[in-house]
Amino acid sequence: MIIAVDGPTASGKGTIAKALGRHFGLPHMDTGLLYRAVGYQVDLNGGNPDDAGDALAACNFPEELLGHPALRSEAIGGLASRVSIHPAVRHALLERQRAFAAQPGGAVLDGRDIGTVICPDADVKLFVTASVDARAERRWAEMQARGEDHTLAAIREDLRERDARDSQRSAAPLIMAPDALLLDTSRLNREEAVARAIELVNAAT
Ligand code: C5P
Repeated sequence: MIIAVDGPTASGKGTIAKALGRHFGLPHMDTGLLYRAVGYQVDLNGGNPDDAGDALAACNFPEELLGHPALRSEAIGGLASRVSIHPAVRHALLERQRAFAAQPGGAVLDGRDIGTVICPDADVKLFVTASVDARAERRWAEMQARGEDHTLAAIREDLRERDARDSQRSAAPLIMAPDALLLDTSRLNREEAVARAIELVNAAT
C-alpha cells in the first residue's frame, strides 16, 4: 500500500504521515528533508539557491546530512523552497523517492507533489491543509519551545511567501491531486488529526 500525503508547510502533514507509517507498519519518507539537504548544501558550497546549476550541484549532498537537526530550521526551509523551484533539482531527487515508494510492502511519503508526480498511482492520497492562522500559531508555539523568538506576524508572512512560491512554481507545484482526500486540520489537535487520517485511509482501502 502506498500512501501519499501532500500539503503546505505546518499543515500537520509530517506528523500525520509519520503516524500513518507507524499505524499501518509502513516505512515513511519525509521528502521535504531532501530539499532541505539541498538548500543546506548549496549554502555550504557558497552557491546561490536561485541558480539552477548551483542548486543541482548541491544535490550531491552527503547522506549523513539527512540526520542533521539544522535542516529543520526556518532558514533552511526557506532555502529548500528556493532550490525546489528548479526542474533539474526535482528530477535529480525523483528516482530516490520512487525507489522508496516501490518497497515490497509499500510506504508512506509526504511532501508537495507525491500524489501528483512521484506516486500518481498511490493507493490513498491525502491532501492535508489548515488555515494560515492555524499554521502560523502552531509554528510559533514550536519555535517558542525551541527558544527561537519570532513574532506571529513574521511567521504568518513567511508562510504566505512559501505557500505562494510552492503553489505558483511551474515545476510540480503544490496542488491537490483530483483523486486526493482533503483533510483540514485547522480545528483539530494532533491526536484528532491522526485519528481522522487513519479513518480516511481505512475507508479508502
Ligand atoms: O515540507 P518541508 O517544509 O520540509 O519542505 C521544505 C520545502 O521543500 C518546501 O517549502 C517545498 O518548497 C520543498 N518541497 C518540495 N517538494 C516536496 C517536498 C518539499 O518542493 N515533495
